Amino acid sequence: MRAPLTSAEDAFGHLLSDFLAGGRVVEGVERDDGCVFTAEPDYYLAPFRSWWSQERRAMRFVRGRVLDLGCGAGRVGLHLQSRGHEVVGIDVSPLAVETARQRGLADVRLGALDSAVRVDERFDTILLLGNNLGLLAGEQQGRRLLRKLARVATDRGRILAGSYDPYRVPRNWPAATTNGTVSADGWAASSGSVSATGSMRPLGTTSSSHRAKRWRGSRREPAGS
Ligand SMILES: C[S@@+](CC[C@H](N)C(=O)[O-])C[C@H]1O[C@@H](n2cnc3c(N)ncnc32)[C@H](O)[C@@H]1O
Repeated sequence: MRAPLTSAEDAFGHLLSDFLAGGRVVEGVERDDGCVFTAEPDYYLAPFRSWWSQERRAMRFVRGRVLDLGCGAGRVGLHLQSRGHEVVGIDVSPLAVETARQRGLADVRLGALDSAVRVDERFDTILLLGNNLGLLAGEQQGRRLLRKLARVATDRGRILAGSYDPYRVPRNWPAATTNGTVSADGWAASSGSVSATGSMRPLGTTSSSHRAKRWRGSRREPAGS
């Protein structure tokens, strides 16, 4: 896990703070395979009622003390705090941490898991929401992160993690371009550019505790909706 970002590296934090300052900003995402698309940042500040249904349902599985890893602007942490949970938000983005703090998240810490959590701290629920299942990155990094999460989890600890099927994109995402090498469901390629013509099917949110539970989205819920 990495150290806090410098200001120049903190693209996500700038996105949040510029958006909150009233700027017209869009999130540009570049996938490892070269596909680039954009999205509106408002979902990162959305109230509970506007969340994807999978994330709303995932909240039923939250219990006890909560670690919100990659808490961003505190979207999920603030909701759980208002429901009476003790929440610790962690993020490597200084501006995201500042934003979450300003929005009222009581315990939000800058840094990665190793540095931001004390050795004696334990959590009943660990959140990797807002696509933060991606923090597992790959097999090796994923194993490392899961081992670290197991160390900070209580015996009955559970992880709630969410992601998309990365090969599907929502109809209404404004634009997508790529180096022309991507060919997957939901994409139509022409002359080296790709238009987002497919529909996104959220993978759902995975609740992993003693018995893993998994949902498949029955509704299509694009980012920012
Ligand atoms: C897509 S945002 C999701 C924010 C929030 N979880 C939500 O659902 O609204 C991802 C966040 O994870 C943070 N992040 C990325 N890598 C991280 C890491 N290794 N440790 C902690 N936070 C990280 C980013 O700075 C960003 O704020």
